[in-house]
Amino acid sequence: MRIIVTGGAGFIGSHIADRYIEAGHDVVVVDNLWDHGGGRRENVNPRASFVHMDIRDPELGRVFHDVKPEVVSHHAAQHSVAISARDPLLDAQVNMVGFLNVLSNAVKTGARKVIYASSGATFGTPDQLPIDESTPQHPESPYGISKMAGEHYLRFFKAQHGLDFTALRYGNVYGPRQDPNGEAGVISIFIGKFLSHDGITIFWDGEQTRDYVYVKDVAEANLLALNAAGGEMLCIGTNKRTSVNQIFLSLKNITGFDAPVIRAPQRPGDARDAQFNCARARDILGWTPQTKLLDGMRETVEFFRKA
Ligand SMILES: NC(=O)c1ccc[n+]([C@@H]2O[C@H](COP(=O)([O-])OP(=O)(O)OC[C@H]3O[C@@H](n4cnc5c(N)ncnc54)[C@H](O)[C@@H]3O)[C@@H](O)[C@H]2O)c1
Repeated sequence: MRIIVTGGAGFIGSHIADRYIEAGHDVVVVDNLWDHGGGRRENVNPRASFVHMDIRDPELGRVFHDVKPEVVSHHAAQHSVAISARDPLLDAQVNMVGFLNVLSNAVKTGARKVIYASSGATFGTPDQLPIDESTPQHPESPYGISKMAGEHYLRFFKAQHGLDFTALRYGNVYGPRQDPNGEAGVISIFIGKFLSHDGITIFWDGEQTRDYVYVKDVAEANLLALNAAGGEMLCIGTNKRTSVNQIFLSLKNITGFDAPVIRAPQRPGDARDAQFNCARARDILGWTPQTKLLDGMRETVEFFRKA
């Protein structure tokens, strides 16, 4: 199958491209290697074609015309909550207008399906945990709003043009290639500090929890979604909560470095807890997370050690 992976030079998109190629598909990566994102040219699989282009570029039509993808896995995004709060216009330009450019060209060139990287950020602070597909969405940042708008555009394009979709609402994805200098991604940020023997800043009391899902499990969900779960918006996590303090202790054991802790106040907008019930992804997509957090953290430490 011919597949365009937007954002395929980034953290998650590059693992998806790898998995598609491993499964025998032809992959074209479209990515503009945005300065503030996690995209790196060296992340792009050597067996993929690479197009260095912004998804907002009118020339995207030419790429779609040449490739004629059957499926588009859309992972290019302005992915920072903080940047979206400072610059909601930029966020909407990339995550909404850029996405509309992708969707319009997918329709024009006869694509069958779009797989969309949605986010737990579309839920905001839920009344109850775990979050599942019936949890009301109240996004609290422009990023969460633009990601949720993307889901609504998918529904419209399916109803209007018959373009099928699967939206995957990710929890906190972690693993090799995640930018250790980013603002989010506590596991890779901590690993970066542990390996360079720096102090570790823990915000709030460190008891805030997240649902950490390994990037290779996320890539597997994207592989299954090529031929399943049409018209679905599915939660992708592990149904487990892990605190920042637990992550710290585990990484201390794995790396063997007793990092000094710097305590800092809660960051504005930081949620207390997150956890995703993924029973629907299991039933509809046939997907369950396979990687235990400790194993995923060990693999990620190994990756950063070698890098
Ligand atoms: N990392 C997570 O925990 C998480 C959670 C939920 C959803 N997501 C979503 O998953 C997707 C991938 O996130 P990631 O963590 O791999 O981030 P990332 O920054 O590593 O990857 C995003 C990629 O998009 C590219 N990009 C940005 N703007 C672009 C533009 N205008 N045109 C073309 N390419 C552009 C970047 O260069 C980068 O390679 C994003 O859509 C993000 O919103 C991520």
